[in-house]
Amino acid sequence: MRGITLKFHGVKFLSGIPARNYYISTPIFYVNAFKTIDIHHDLENTPHIGHLYSAVIADSINRFKFLTGVENSIFSTGTDEHGLKVEIAAKKGLANNVNLKSSFQQHRQANKDKLSTTSKPTLEYCTKVSSEFHALFKKCNVNFSDFIRTTDPRHLSTVNKLWKRLQKNGHIYEGFYSGWYCVSDEAFLKQSQLKELKGDEGKTVMVSAESGHPAEWTEEKNYMFRMSSFKDDLLYWLKDSKKYIYTSKLHTMIEEVSLGDLSISRPIERIHWGIPVPGDPSQCIYVWVDALANYLTVAKVFDDDSEGNELNLKNWPPDIQVIGKDILKFHGIYWPSLLIAAGLEPPKSLFVHSHWTVDGEKMSKSRGNVVDPFDRADAYTPDGLRYFLLREGVAHSDGNYSDKKIVNILNSELADTFGNLLNRCTGKSLNPNQEFPSLKQSDIDKLYKSNDQTQSETCEKLLESLTALPDKVRIYYSSQEFHRVADAVMEVLRITNKFFEAQRPWDTAKRLKMLYKEKDRNDALIDTTQAELNAILSLSMESLRICGIILQPMIPVLSSTLLDRLGVSITKRMWTDASEFSWLGAGKNGNPLDSKGNVPLFMRIIKVFELKALDQVVG
Ligand code: MSP
Repeated sequence: MRGITLKFHGVKFLSGIPARNYYISTPIFYVNAFKTIDIHHDLENTPHIGHLYSAVIADSINRFKFLTGVENSIFSTGTDEHGLKVEIAAKKGLANNVNLKSSFQQHRQANKDKLSTTSKPTLEYCTKVSSEFHALFKKCNVNFSDFIRTTDPRHLSTVNKLWKRLQKNGHIYEGFYSGWYCVSDEAFLKQSQLKELKGDEGKTVMVSAESGHPAEWTEEKNYMFRMSSFKDDLLYWLKDSKKYIYTSKLHTMIEEVSLGDLSISRPIERIHWGIPVPGDPSQCIYVWVDALANYLTVAKVFDDDSEGNELNLKNWPPDIQVIGKDILKFHGIYWPSLLIAAGLEPPKSLFVHSHWTVDGEKMSKSRGNVVDPFDRADAYTPDGLRYFLLREGVAHSDGNYSDKKIVNILNSELADTFGNLLNRCTGKSLNPNQEFPSLKQSDIDKLYKSNDQTQSETCEKLLESLTALPDKVRIYYSSQEFHRVADAVMEVLRITNKFFEAQRPWDTAKRLKMLYKEKDRNDALIDTTQAELNAILSLSMESLRICGIILQPMIPVLSSTLLDRLGVSITKRMWTDASEFSWLGAGKNGNPLDSKGNVPLFMRIIKVFELKALDQVVG
């Protein structure tokens, strides 16, 4: 059975084919990204927390999908390795001494070589930086299924086939391009994107208004893509798919950008580390076309046919593509236009996230404020860092990274509210039998109907909030509102802590001890008292179990440690398991606790990470 038919530009697309895999992607990361100056003064080209943020968002969405029953998914990430900046960074080795401006000039003069996709030192450099991203994502449990590099041979083949399809469909023509070109930004700039500045000898120079990098008047042959003919299709796509808060911004961009066609090649004198235009080795394919095609490579869309005529749509289109706000134009305009022109359906949705700043300022090498995710994952644990990024980041405005803030949040939420509750319920003093006691509705009713008003009220509140939690949070996950997920879960955990306090299980445990010591043991009373204590522990653990299942997409390691400790079987950790109280199901509790997991879930952090030294004690 086939699903709904969408029509773009006269091309029919079939979507909703049942066997299709779920497909989610991150952007591919530049291998010329910079890391901050740290105590060792080694500036390297490595990832920062902004990059990790894109990846962690996608990972959490993918894990949530799995939890709700999506069995086959493709989750792609990788590195973007072509272009002038990469080549220059590679030539210089470590980038700490690179004076980019002079390097670009030297490069332009010296660049008489042929196009190259195989230069060994450049590739070695790319491999080195790419492996940093790979290592970071592994360290932070970003569970990708494919890590693509644009220097992979499989990708070269995709880009060639994409080009040929566009050409065959009549959407590429040879043009003559002139305009202000900013080498550093690798883009032609419009008048509105330029600023005039007085140069060294009083001469007027043009610079990019956004980046401040110089622009030069350039005239050259380019291959052009007829993007302007896809405006209506873009607007249709935009109407049809969910773009969240950026929809109106995209509309404005479409109005501006799609007035013109897009230059999709560069002469090799300018860019020479890239993929040659098929049939014209004097031109190199524009890095963004090359980069965007990575999503097709991963989906194996052209793998069935050497000419790229037959399409393999088993993994197409992507369900959701996670991107940062800075690359919206490329993914919201260029990308869908290229796909429609190639006879392919555009992505079903884009999730556009905002950026991280540090103490209110943009992260930059020159400010020396780029936050290194490796260090922070060591200091705060990978899950701690993931939790902070997802809990503090919101899509509509930039997040501010601060080490003090992360420590406060992790201590109060993961250590005190979450971890401490687990310790209290599973500690030997209250839980000498080391079990997740079984519970019956009648035990709950007793707690609920306690004569102590605070006790009955806190119990009622806990049951209510816990019952409502899964459905509420499912909506938040579905709209990528991780901060709301965290808020809602923490709220329930705080209510559970209040319930625990109000029930005073330590008093019940003390009474129980005394009863056992009495000469004439009253077994019936012992049983009721034990049941009372069990009910308090069990209901609190039930809250932890449900919250643990729900938090798996955001903090997979901590959640699994918690669920292990509670003795929750690996097959009982799906979303449906969170939506049902254990005592109402098929008698799932009454489990022994896992003694191996008897360690604090999340240790309080007592020192704030400092670039120079770990010496600042949190007050
Ligand atoms: N290579 C392109 C993407 C090509 S995808 C076909 C690129 N790479 S990037 O390394 O500069 O950025 C990758 C991702 O990291 C983007 O989603 C970008 O928004 C994100 N971030 C880069 N800096 C960031 C912050 N300061 N904060 C949050 N995310 C940021 O663009």
